[in-house]
Amino acid sequence: MKADADSIDADPIDGAVLRLTAGMGPESHRQILARCLSGSLSPAVALMQLLIDTENAAAVRATIDELALRVANVSRATDSLVRDRVDDLTQLMVENELGCERIAEMLRSNMDSPEMAPTVEAGIAFCERLFDWSVQQSEEASVALYSLGNPTLLERATSEIVAQLDAWHVLGKTKTVLDLGCGIGRIACAIAPKVREIHGIDVSRGMINIALRRCEPLTNVHLLKSTGHDLREFSDEWFDTVIAVDTFPYINQSGAALVESHFSETKRVLKENGDLVIFNYSYRGDDDADRHDVRRLAAEYGFGVVVAGEHPFSIWNGSAFHLRKAEVKKV
Ligand SMILES: C[S@@+](CC[C@H](N)C(=O)[O-])C[C@H]1O[C@@H](n2cnc3c(N)ncnc32)[C@H](O)[C@@H]1O
Repeated sequence: MKADADSIDADPIDGAVLRLTAGMGPESHRQILARCLSGSLSPAVALMQLLIDTENAAAVRATIDELALRVANVSRATDSLVRDRVDDLTQLMVENELGCERIAEMLRSNMDSPEMAPTVEAGIAFCERLFDWSVQQSEEASVALYSLGNPTLLERATSEIVAQLDAWHVLGKTKTVLDLGCGIGRIACAIAPKVREIHGIDVSRGMINIALRRCEPLTNVHLLKSTGHDLREFSDEWFDTVIAVDTFPYINQSGAALVESHFSETKRVLKENGDLVIFNYSYRGDDDADRHDVRRLAAEYGFGVVVAGEHPFSIWNGSAFHLRKAEVKKV
């Protein structure tokens, strides 16, 4: 969104967003709200980001109430789209008030996530503790904070992920799939009817226990607690597809050596022409740097890059990479 005075005249949406959010502080909150109202951030992710910033659900509620008041007082007849987005944000907050409080509480009492672990061992041990603990607080929020702990919202976000996997033709009744960092098994459960077999691994015993319960009736889902270091449980060329949904940011935080080991291991366990799908590569908030790193790793480990760092989802703001074990024309 452009932020200069000219843009107010040039683009009615930008103009409305600037008028409605002007002077709302702190600036980080104003920016989150502006991105939500201009349509580049979903209400769910906007709420999550405000909660991360404040660790206080009442403060987030007050910010959204102030925004709603501004809409009532200052918006013009042409602002209807922006007004609808404020309504969506308000409604989501109201419908998930308890979930927001729980998330704020989780954020307050949570062990702080280090930007970078001092060693790979420390990084993996931290992930085990973090996710063993998080899944006890809220199954849904532990895998997707933006679900606000709401099963319906998580299901909608999961459906968008599965639709993307379908669109990329990486699922199919003849395919064997690895779900790397499977968490509570929401992806494995959702894609089980579409594939021959799916194996979910996770470094957190707590996550695997919940995934075992959730996937229990599905005979083609196999779940295993892994060491987090590699894919030693699987022999060469076992899988048609490997997917990692919001797992690589944690592998990244455990160190470059672990990222390299997972690229090398993924290459080993994939069949020729097999697909590697990474949804979210890191949490550093720099799409270009992520694209650069993934392209470098792909070249080094023998993957072609089919899609590099797009944002295909309407609810989740995760970035999407699709690589293929074979030489394909790079984009
Ligand atoms: C944000 S959760 C996402 C879970 C699941 N992919 C989903 O989207 O529902 C990240 C998961 O990655 C797992 N994880 C982190 N580092 C890992 C590693 N080195 N090996 C396997 N799993 C790991 C965590 O335990 C956690 O369950």
